[in-house]
Amino acid sequence: MFSVSRQDFGPNFVFGTATSAYQIEGGQGDGRGSSIWDTFAATPRNVKNADGGAIACDHYNRWPEDLDIIRDGGFDAYRFSFAWPRLIPEGTGAVNQAGLDFYDRLIDGMLARGLKPFATLYHWDLPSTLQDKGGWMNRDIGNWFAEYAALSGRHFGDRLHATATINEPWCVAFLSHFLGIHAPGYRDVRAAARAMHHVLFAHGHGVDALRAEGVKNVGIVLNLEKSEPATESAEDQIAFDYGDALFNRWYLGGVFKGQYPEVLTKALAPYLPKDFERDMDVVSRPLDWLGVNYYTRGLYKHDPNVPIFPIGQVKGPREKNDLGWEIYPEGLEALLVRVSNEYTKLPLYITETGMSETDDTRRVAFYDEHLKAVARAQGQGADVRGFFAWSLLDNYEWAEGYTSRFGIVHVDYETQLRTPKGSYRAFQGMLHNTR
Ligand code: FCB
Repeated sequence: MFSVSRQDFGPNFVFGTATSAYQIEGGQGDGRGSSIWDTFAATPRNVKNADGGAIACDHYNRWPEDLDIIRDGGFDAYRFSFAWPRLIPEGTGAVNQAGLDFYDRLIDGMLARGLKPFATLYHWDLPSTLQDKGGWMNRDIGNWFAEYAALSGRHFGDRLHATATINEPWCVAFLSHFLGIHAPGYRDVRAAARAMHHVLFAHGHGVDALRAEGVKNVGIVLNLEKSEPATESAEDQIAFDYGDALFNRWYLGGVFKGQYPEVLTKALAPYLPKDFERDMDVVSRPLDWLGVNYYTRGLYKHDPNVPIFPIGQVKGPREKNDLGWEIYPEGLEALLVRVSNEYTKLPLYITETGMSETDDTRRVAFYDEHLKAVARAQGQGADVRGFFAWSLLDNYEWAEGYTSRFGIVHVDYETQLRTPKGSYRAFQGMLHNTR
């Protein structure tokens, strides 16, 4: 049971669950093209147990059951993503009719069940053919993404409640091109600097393309953390400034102020695309909402041995999830208030939060604490309009493969049996019959 109730969040507050295409769909026949996650997963040592998304939760076939589960939980909305390689297998050009048909069925299935579709265009499954041309390192991705956004907007737009261009640009750029942890697995500062700019440049082009097709309620989903210095020392303060800039301010500043943090434009000067400043009006196209994904805080300490950004991270003292991520609900409160005071008065949605854990009683407590943090942020003026649990199902957790379970519904990968967990029941108890 949660200690909060629906009424604590104001009228019309949207409760939903979230997933993404690669993590649950499977269904790789039917004309779907290859994505960077297929090849990254097929490469030894990138993913635990060499797990890949070939079958995942078989949502491609089992979507009616999954939508029933969302409806029966009393949720108002479902956040899902389109797979670019399912719709345009080669990234640009020919469209896969089976892909259009699948998402038609899925969206119509949501509407038939009274669920609001919250779509994300890009949740990390870049068509491999575009990676062959440099992917996010290539400025042409602005046009490639616009073509894909236009197709999605034209075909599905009038049935979508909200559309996000890109999920978690920090992960698309930094985690995938500097830290090498996600596909395409680069560890190269020039690759990263280019991706950091092009991901927001493409976002802006995507916004224009969606609007040109008449799509309403367009936003972006940023993963943000509560960054803090590890100690009070002046050096750690500087480390915190770098860390916060890399994780939060690059994206918030770019999108809402048309400006990247100076500490990074200086550090990355030799590597950023030439004349990137000229693109900042595209990067900062006006939006209708902001999605915030929140999981933990970042604690930064000075590390003189690290070139470019002389920083390291330490673990905080609090309880952790089973991936070692510190649980820090008050960080969500502070973050929402900060975003609202410093960056935008647009409606905010918690588009993801959740916990990798097998002991579901801890997950119930996690959600309860984070829901309370949202209500407190609302009390301080943050215009939060919705909350999506990550995730509906246990699913393919990227480099962790199937070892990490974020679902509020358990999935047996042998049988594909779905079993609601206590956390699902807690949402159901709060939401049922109050829609
Ligand atoms: C976010 C991703 C999502 C999932 C959660 C745990 O970074 O958007 O796909 O992996 O983390």
